[in-house]
Amino acid sequence: MLQRQNNNSETSFIEIRNVVKHFGAVIALNGVSLSVGSGEVLCLLGDNGAGKSTLIKTLSGVHKPTSGEFLVDGKPVEFGSPRDALDAGIATVYQDLAMIPLMSVSRNFFMGREPVKRIGPLSWFDRKFADEVTHEEMRKIGIDVRDPNQAVGTLSGGERQCVAIARAVYFGAKVLILDEPTSALGVAQTSMVLKYIDAVRSRGLGVIFITHNVRHAYAVGNRFTVLNRGKTLGMYRKDEIAIDALQNLMAGGKELQSLSEELGGTI
Ligand SMILES: Nc1ncnc2c1ncn2[C@@H]1O[C@H](COP(=O)(O)OP(=O)(O)OP(=O)(O)O)[C@@H](O)[C@H]1O
Ligand SMILES: [Mg+2]
Repeated sequence: MLQRQNNNSETSFIEIRNVVKHFGAVIALNGVSLSVGSGEVLCLLGDNGAGKSTLIKTLSGVHKPTSGEFLVDGKPVEFGSPRDALDAGIATVYQDLAMIPLMSVSRNFFMGREPVKRIGPLSWFDRKFADEVTHEEMRKIGIDVRDPNQAVGTLSGGERQCVAIARAVYFGAKVLILDEPTSALGVAQTSMVLKYIDAVRSRGLGVIFITHNVRHAYAVGNRFTVLNRGKTLGMYRKDEIAIDALQNLMAGGKELQSLSEELGGTI
């Protein structure tokens, strides 16, 4: 099993250093650094307004940072659009999943990248190919989509989340950014999604898992970073921080001082 213990930039897929993002007078990010490498889940925790969405939008090419460095595979990049981020292997699964509930599972799976069959001047959506791939990709993760033509809205919330992740993996993502993938799910569905996140990680992808839920983070995370008012309060490997301490950090860093002493000043 792949397990990275450090965060040196040689093996990081993505690294950002000191990223700042202003919206007019609002400082949404105030010097954020993080990295994620192959085969690891980095959990990004933070309360409302901490800057989580702004950070993932910066990573996924929606926002341009006001200042700071952004490296992919150790090389500086500047994304002009989400397409640039996708081309660099960074795929973001937003909470609304960007799916059309009444369209079929396979149509949603291939949305925007429809396989096309051509004969002479005629071309059309290659439904057979799309159905086969969708069925096979979902089977691999233990979800039996009996009919890939069924509307995606008929799947459970956890299954839909898995479809969105499987779609990103199939199209070659190296880093997956998951925005609160478990926040709307019950226990069984959450466990399905967390298991899948772990499976994706063990295949060598890097995952940035954004959540409010420390338990969900702790279940699959290799490293944790807490955002608070646009700043990272710290970055910890799992063996460096207990779940209670992580919860305290989330709660606003009230225990920060004592924790910092406990950890030998790593904050
Ligand atoms: N487009 C924008 N224009 C102006 N201010 C913004 C914009 N986007 C975010 N902000 C501000 O930046 C700060 C961080 O917001 P952000 O949405 O990144 O937080 P968040 O951690 O995602 O919160 P939540 O958990 O509520 O989703 C907030 O003060 C927010 O009001
Ligand atoms: Mg948000």
